[in-house]
Amino acid sequence: MVTGGRCPYKCETNWQGRIAATWICGVSGWFGDGKDTILRGQFITFEGGEGAGKSTQISRLADYLRRCGVDVVITREPGGSPGAEAVRHVLLSGAAEALGPETEAILFSAARADHIAQTIEPAFHAGKWVLCDRFIDSTRVYQGESGVQPAFLKKLEAVAVGRLSPDLTLIVDIPPRLGFKRIAGRDELSGGAEKDRFERETLEIHSNRRDRYLDIARAEPERCAVVDGSRKPDEVAEAIIEIVETRLGPIAESVTSSRDGVRS
Ligand code: TYD
Repeated sequence: MVTGGRCPYKCETNWQGRIAATWICGVSGWFGDGKDTILRGQFITFEGGEGAGKSTQISRLADYLRRCGVDVVITREPGGSPGAEAVRHVLLSGAAEALGPETEAILFSAARADHIAQTIEPAFHAGKWVLCDRFIDSTRVYQGESGVQPAFLKKLEAVAVGRLSPDLTLIVDIPPRLGFKRIAGRDELSGGAEKDRFERETLEIHSNRRDRYLDIARAEPERCAVVDGSRKPDEVAEAIIEIVETRLGPIAESVTSSRDGVRS
């Protein structure tokens, strides 16, 4: 049963475009006992440069969805399955850097294939909402910026990901200088020991990556939404909820009467 959260209030107060949601909420149990309600799976990816605040926003959205009764799985790349976590260690330690950007791209893709098979698809097919910290766009942006050719990346994507595509990609956008400042703040706490292979790069590289993300958002507006991540975390979280509900429909609408929860 849903005991807190914003959904019922939102349905009541923000009536424009939400009348159907109010009806569905009432019928399906936001105010009732919620019995026999189950939610259709969704796959949402979060992207952005260093220090964009993705992790904070993922847990904020997860909290909100859980309060709405959604079964949420949080995962990340590189990693998210035991095999992919092992590859993560190789990649982020810099151990694969000497092998060249193409090999790094292959390793990111190999980790992704395992992550999809072991974690993403099973959760998704069980009707859960998967919130994934980084996915294909990180490879396009980071390995693209390292000089790997788009045609090569496209082939890797076809092998590792096939036709799976996120329902929504949230690109958390911040000016690279702000990202640097936030990373520097983290460094002060850790004594600088926690910087990974990709966080050690220059401001120019970070700016280029930002441009690449914005290019992807322009090229795929149906999948991607850009969120201004330079605002206060509460404001960013609120903006993300708006986008999720606008793009994927009011969360209550994903309630089905099926107990199987298999995505149609
Ligand atoms: P991580 O510690 O997860 O940090 P964050 O996502 O908060 O930046 O670091 C993952 C790093 O790996 C990050 O610098 C981006 C990089 N990366 C790639 O270069 N290619 C990829 O395909 C992925 C998934 C990540």
